[in-house]
This record gives sequence, structure tokens and C-alpha cells, in this order.
Amino acid sequence: MSQLDKIDKNQLPLHIAIIMDGNGRWAQEKGEDRLFGHYQGVESVRNIVEGCAELGIEYLTLYAFSTENWDRPETEVTGLMELLAQTIRQEVSTLNKNNIKLQMIGNIEMLPDYARQSLQEAVDLTKANSGLTLIIALSYSSRWELLQAVKGIAADVKSGKIMPDQINENTLRHYLVTSAFPDPELMIRTSGEYRISNFLLYQLAYAELYFTDTRWPDFGKEHLYEAILNFQQRQRRFGKTGDQIQRESATDMH
Ligand code: IPE
Ligand code: IPE
Ligand code: MG
Repeated sequence: MSQLDKIDKNQLPLHIAIIMDGNGRWAQEKGEDRLFGHYQGVESVRNIVEGCAELGIEYLTLYAFSTENWDRPETEVTGLMELLAQTIRQEVSTLNKNNIKLQMIGNIEMLPDYARQSLQEAVDLTKANSGLTLIIALSYSSRWELLQAVKGIAADVKSGKIMPDQINENTLRHYLVTSAFPDPELMIRTSGEYRISNFLLYQLAYAELYFTDTRWPDFGKEHLYEAILNFQQRQRRFGKTGDQIQRESATDMH
């Protein structure tokens, strides 16, 4: 029996975020070049995007390349950029067929022109779709995001657009690159690393975290279902007591 049958379709996480990690080690363990792992990783991306769309997940954010990843050897960075641009170009028709809307978060200015262009084209060509919103975090880091939000707020205070004492949580959210999306409810990291690596530090405040030893190229739909099932077994308390949450869900049912 597939784990899929055990998933409660009424209790799906609204937004899943994934740190797709372990491509390099997966390849090296097979005596292959790290780039081979990234190529295989694309296959996992296809499967997981399809799996989320089939389930009816509304938002999926994939961490594809961090600000810090620019410091990797030039051949790996170039290989990754070419793979990204090529994959996106190839996938546009599938995205449209599956009603998936592509969005990008990150410091896109750092990308080579050809990669930026093919990404922007794909975002444009899928913008009318109304199914799954697929958000690719590319040249992204949370500290970069928070810094540019602070600069944006400072500039608008200076020009008189907002007053300092009007700034609240909603104002801050508005200046984040994720302002159009709800916070992730489930965050998955593959490959046995237990860290956040500068990913959505603000937005993950109350996300359920799920770590698995499976390397990203081996991560398939069944692994996704496993993570969602695990999520559904947790009690999310948001600072309250377990008794309060139980009473609230009992009254919700009436
Ligand atoms: C994740 O796999 C993909 C990117 C960071 C681009 P890694 O390339 O980090 O693989 P490992 O962690 O070295 O195995
Ligand atoms: C995080 O993975 C970034 C992405 C998956 C894109 P890394 O492999 O770069 O993270 P660290 O360096 O192990 O923390
Ligand atoms: Mg890694």
C-alpha cells in the first residue's frame, strides 16, 4: 500500500519548503562527478513537483542555490547555472500543462544573463496558471533578504511613505521577497544535515521540520508522502498548551 492512501487530504500543509541537499555526495559515492548528482537531482525535482501538484499542495518552495553556493568551484557553479537554465526552458510546457505557476526568489541580479532571461521568460509564460505555485529560491539567502527588507523600509521612511511607529509585522512581511506567499508549514531537508543554511529564517518560525538521511537524487514521491504523514501526526501548538489545542479542534468540528 502506498503511503499516499494514508494521507488525510483535508490536512495537507498549505506550503512545503525543501532544502534539496546531497546531490554532490550522492554522485561521489558512486565514483561520479558532483555535477552528475545535480543532473539526477533534476529528476527528483520533477517527481516532487508532480507529486505536490497531484496532491493539491498550494505552494512549494525549493532551495536550488544559496548566496553562499556562489563560493563553490567555478566549474560547479557554471554547470549548475547551465543546468538550471536548460531545465527551466525544457519544463515550461509541462508546467503549463499541469497549471503550475513558477515564481523566483533571490538575488537574481547575480545570475548570468542567459540564466536570468530563461527564468524570467518561464515566470512570464506561467503567470496565468492557478494550480500549484512553485517558488524557486535561487541565489537566495535569508540574511540577504532581511537586509534588503530593512533597506527598503529605511528608504520609505526617509521619503515619508511610512512612519517609523507605523511599522508592524505586516509591514516587514511586505518588504520580504516572500510577501505574496504564506509561511511554509512543513520544511524538509534531505541528506542527513540538521541545519537551516540561511533558508527562510523569518518564515520558518513555526514550520514543522522534517529531516531525512535520503540524498536528494533518491528522494521520490513515497518519501514526500512519508514526510507529509509525519507532519500530520504532529500537534502544532503555536505557544499554547496541548489541552487548548485539543479543545479548539473539538469545537472546530461542530
Ligand atoms: C544540493 O546538493 C544542491 C546545491 C546546493 C546546489 P549539494 O551540492 O550541496 O550536495 P552535497 O551536500 O555536497 O552532497
Ligand atoms: C543548502 O545546501 C543550499 C541548497 C540546498 C541550495 P548546502 O549544501 O549549500 O548547505 P551547507 O553548506 O551544507 O550548509
Ligand atoms: Mg550540500
